Amino acid sequence: MAEKGFYSLPDLKYGYGDLAPFLSEQLLKIHHDGHHRKYVNQANALLEKLDKAREEGTMGSMKCDIQSLAFNVGGHYLHSLFWENMAPTYAGGGGEPGGLIADLLENEFGSFDRFKKEFTEVANSVESSGWAVLVMCMEANRPLLMQVKDHHLYSIPGFRILMVLDVWEHAYYLDYQNDKAKYNQTFWDVVNWIEIDQRAEDIAGAGKVESRKAVNPATAHIIPKR
Ligand SMILES: [Fe+2]
Repeated sequence: MAEKGFYSLPDLKYGYGDLAPFLSEQLLKIHHDGHHRKYVNQANALLEKLDKAREEGTMGSMKCDIQSLAFNVGGHYLHSLFWENMAPTYAGGGGEPGGLIADLLENEFGSFDRFKKEFTEVANSVESSGWAVLVMCMEANRPLLMQVKDHHLYSIPGFRILMVLDVWEHAYYLDYQNDKAKYNQTFWDVVNWIEIDQRAEDIAGAGKVESRKAVNPATAHIIPKR
């Protein structure tokens, strides 16, 4: 039987200073190496705690532990997607989408500009800590917008993620102070449409098979299949 795994902090595919001026080197380093690392460490500590309790036959606070696990694994997963759905401008970040994702957005929202306006408004209107998220619903064959509170609440279970934007204060405050709207608008300069189009292609390809299978809606969106 395969050994149980743990989570690990992914390396960025660009340097800490490479998303400037959207994000300063200092902010991206704190966000990736500080905040994201903490979610990974806390998730792994919870897994070890659950493993130990199962070995010893003890029962801790399951409610507390699994809620904390959802928060930290959700934080790890969303940040991992976030780093990859951005790219420096020298590597193709920004601009407009092509391929399947362009067709999906045009078909759903009527135009790329309308999609940008709706996504930006979703990000602007997140209360306290959360994320703006674009997902794909294979049943309705539509991309949908969501707000995720913290890293795991208010989301529609089971839908695969196309794009995320972190709108926690830790994501922007060092560079933008309280001007979250400016951060949300500047995000468009570093969106990695090639990565997002690849996610759309992967989801569409998997959907032909997975739409006929029973998928656990409570966990399907937590398991990255990229
Ligand atoms: Fe974050």
